[in-house]
Amino acid sequence: MRILHLSDTHLTQASGPNGDGVDTRDSLRRILYDCRELPGLDAVVVTGDIADDGSREAYVAARELVGGFAGERGIPAIFSTGNHDERVAFAGVLGSGHRDAGGQDRPDQQFDGDARAAVTLVDGYRVITLDSLVPGKGFGEISGAQLAWLRNVLVAPAPRGSILAFHHPPVAVPGVTVQDALGLRNAAELAEAIAGSDVRLILCGHFHLQIFGMLAGVPVWVTPGVVTRIDLTATPGAERAVHGASATLVDLGGPHSPVLHTLHARDPQAGRTAYDIDAAELAAVIAKLGKA
Ligand SMILES: [Fe+2]
Repeated sequence: MRILHLSDTHLTQASGPNGDGVDTRDSLRRILYDCRELPGLDAVVVTGDIADDGSREAYVAARELVGGFAGERGIPAIFSTGNHDERVAFAGVLGSGHRDAGGQDRPDQQFDGDARAAVTLVDGYRVITLDSLVPGKGFGEISGAQLAWLRNVLVAPAPRGSILAFHHPPVAVPGVTVQDALGLRNAAELAEAIAGSDVRLILCGHFHLQIFGMLAGVPVWVTPGVVTRIDLTATPGAERAVHGASATLVDLGGPHSPVLHTLHARDPQAGRTAYDIDAAELAAVIAKLGKA
């Protein structure tokens, strides 16, 4: 089983460069183009912040670009929500977020409610998206209703195991305050819900940089952003983002499963600063959007 894992496309209604000088459509096109020869892909999974502005146009662009890439390969394109997403606009264009190989919204199971959570079986693996979006906030939470639904989904194991995909990581790099403040608030509840289940891997985004960690014995992978990559060589407490789209190639089922490999677009701007936020500015962001 091979997944192309993308996250944080931050597409907008308008095309052209955003306030940080990043053309988000170009950034997505570039990484998809550079991934065009990857063999054996079974699915594309995008873990949230599909839109930066929650606009319908952004979801249409995601459907065309990511869905187009998947459609050419005859594989599903699976999307989850992030803190920048807007559920109604997301649902209006992407439905459950689970697009089959023909581009139709056809999940095998779907959460009954506004939250975008659904299941698709791919190559014997159950890909389960969850919705960690908390409107108006930067941190994430998976609701009790979704956790109850998840427990029910996981009662019967899938042929080869389950993969969770959602936006807000339940892990953080020690000492990076912004990650603690804006991560998944109820990671312990999620850990309880998946304890003893067939969940083999958790895929997340949101932090715009690659992190590997564990949640109650389950590997957690955070893929860097398509829009930018956060560079932790900035002064502690400050934040620097650099140009250059990234993606992760996820391989499951082999002797070393899961194997995770980060890919970087061949962008001549890669590594150039997109924005620098000093410690005071970042503290203000945390105060406004962080865990209550
Ligand atoms: Fe995010």
